[in-house]
Amino acid sequence: MSDFFVETPTDCNLLFYKSVESTNEVAKKLAVSGVDSGTVVWAKEQLSGKGRHGRSWSSPPGNLYVSIIQRPNCKPSEGSQIGFVASVSLVETINSLTGIKVTLKWPNDLLINEKKVAGILLESSSSDSDKLDWVIIGVGLNVLSCPKHIKDTTCLNTEGARLSVEELLQGFLMKLYSKISEWDEQGFEIIRQKWMIYAPIQGSETRVRLPVGEVTGKYCGLDCSGNLLIETKNGIKSIETGEVFPVVTNYNE
Ligand code: BTN
Repeated sequence: MSDFFVETPTDCNLLFYKSVESTNEVAKKLAVSGVDSGTVVWAKEQLSGKGRHGRSWSSPPGNLYVSIIQRPNCKPSEGSQIGFVASVSLVETINSLTGIKVTLKWPNDLLINEKKVAGILLESSSSDSDKLDWVIIGVGLNVLSCPKHIKDTTCLNTEGARLSVEELLQGFLMKLYSKISEWDEQGFEIIRQKWMIYAPIQGSETRVRLPVGEVTGKYCGLDCSGNLLIETKNGIKSIETGEVFPVVTNYNE
């Protein structure tokens, strides 16, 4: 580990682990046991890291694996907004520390030159329909390496940025906590607009794999609750869950 000391926001309690199965799993147990909002679980490696859609997340030492517990004062249906708060915060952290241009793919993948460098897994719980109990923001950022067997992935090291995990974690937590307060006080609109700036190519042909079936159409950005808007032949569709793929067209078409 480097000698860098991770300075944290005042309302953050950072817990460090050398190795865990999954920081999200550790954070979930802590959330259920009643720990304060702002508790953060950070591990040097994960033995069983989890990705979206039930996939695994390759987690050797050298990358950032962190899960942040939040108890926002919002409805369960608004909980996904915090994922956008986190992805915008991570884009701005990487950009300000490295100068590298990072873009977003819905909902919360971070890309450098169209290759995935980071992902976010949100998990939440609510016992009644009016109030979210907790949400876990699980962030995996490829710093030193990325999985060789998965195509179109990259890491900061390959992109020429030599930064420690500690520096990135500190920058990210500072940015995230300030944006969470902004979201809490002013609502989702500012974050939504920022997210749209970092997720370009509006109007491009996009295919979205849904839990059942798929939708193809023009990408039109985010609506006011974080759903993806796709303009299809039958009108605009608002999509809550799915996976986005660009439509590759033949050059001569
Ligand atoms: C994705 O599939 O894009 C989301 C990946 C999220 C990975 C992070 S690493 C830290 C946290 N703990 C986990 O087990 N997963 C998330």
